[in-house]
Amino acid sequence: MEELTIHVMTEEKLKKEIKRIMLKNRQSSGTYQYTVPSLSSYPFQWLWDSCFHAIILVNIHLVEDAKKEMLSLVSHQFKNGMIPHMIYWNKAKEHDFSVVKWGRKDTSTITQPPMLAHVVWKIFKNDNDKEFLQNIYPNLNKLYRFILSDRDPRKINLIGIIDPDESGEDNSPRFDKALGLPPQQSQQENFAKRLQLVSDNVKCHFEGRCMSNFFWVRDVPFNVITIRNLEYMSSIANELHKKADSEFFLTQADLIKRAMKKYMLEDNVYWSTYKIEPNKIKLKTWHIFSPLYARLYNQEDAKRLVDTYLFRGGFDTKYGIPTVATDEKSYDVNGFWRGPTWIATNWFIYKGLMEYGMYDYAQKIKDASTALIEKCGFREHFNPDTGEGQGAKDFTWGGLTIDMYDESERRFSGFK
Ligand code: GLC
Repeated sequence: MEELTIHVMTEEKLKKEIKRIMLKNRQSSGTYQYTVPSLSSYPFQWLWDSCFHAIILVNIHLVEDAKKEMLSLVSHQFKNGMIPHMIYWNKAKEHDFSVVKWGRKDTSTITQPPMLAHVVWKIFKNDNDKEFLQNIYPNLNKLYRFILSDRDPRKINLIGIIDPDESGEDNSPRFDKALGLPPQQSQQENFAKRLQLVSDNVKCHFEGRCMSNFFWVRDVPFNVITIRNLEYMSSIANELHKKADSEFFLTQADLIKRAMKKYMLEDNVYWSTYKIEPNKIKLKTWHIFSPLYARLYNQEDAKRLVDTYLFRGGFDTKYGIPTVATDEKSYDVNGFWRGPTWIATNWFIYKGLMEYGMYDYAQKIKDASTALIEKCGFREHFNPDTGEGQGAKDFTWGGLTIDMYDESERRFSGFK
């Protein structure tokens, strides 16, 4: 990657801007409080967005607000434990989002990467509020057990998603094959396929095994995030003296790690799979770095992965890491999740690099992320070559950059 020459803004200035957006995007409904990703483009509550928000709120010392964000997120949990990826808070009618017929009025009927345990642990580590931990634990316990059962009905220890949107990367080319779409496609074609899946889900009564007949991707980041969060769940359960739960979650994390090695790993890269019998989807997207976040590699293989791909081999654009490698047919500098840089994916990569003590690379990601914000503000995503801002404005995810300044989590586990 070419060196960035622009000046990187100070941490203080960054914090001030982030706080402004977080307060501007704050909403409430009755006693609940949550943050919308962007007032104009995304006026509801989203699952992994709220997790990112809570992380950001902790970093700007609004810890009580972080707790409120999480409590509103779990308030619409389904009986079976699923947490929907969107909560409309009765505002659906005012927006075009009502075109999606989820089969329920107030929420969607699919989920998103389960980042909750990571966030709850971070909050707890900040102020040791055991009451909060105790209150939210039953929700988390039900959620992770739902994921482990409903999304792995054939018990191969890999988690499946039933719709691309569950990955949080709605239009990513990782899902093209499973959707039956070519590498070059229009947003309308892609949307039509995803709408079809929503109606299949209604017919399936929102049940994973049935949905696996229509769409079943065992996605690398989703599994990686599940592993890491199961480990956090184990710590949370341990803190609450729930020894059996603590062991259970750790064992499950380990089983997924092994299954990922067995079914996804080839030539030192983890590939997502599609269909019930796992078929690898060999397409280079940012996901290839995500296993670092859950420490799936030993030190030597992590170094090999980074030496082969990070800032090179299609991931060598000037502004951070593109979501899709530039030498892929599907790469589209203006596409939605098909090339542009997103701060959240940079954040996962940053976290992973820190796990392995690769501080110089991590610093480069942090600088590239800050430089994007300095250049164009808090946009949804960015042109990886020019840094030009794209999509929603005053979009909250840029706030994750501040978490890259939080050195308290800095450690080198030297995992083998
Ligand atoms: C888009 C993104 C998704 C996000 C949502 C709200 O759908 O793809 O990841 O949760 O917007 O920001």
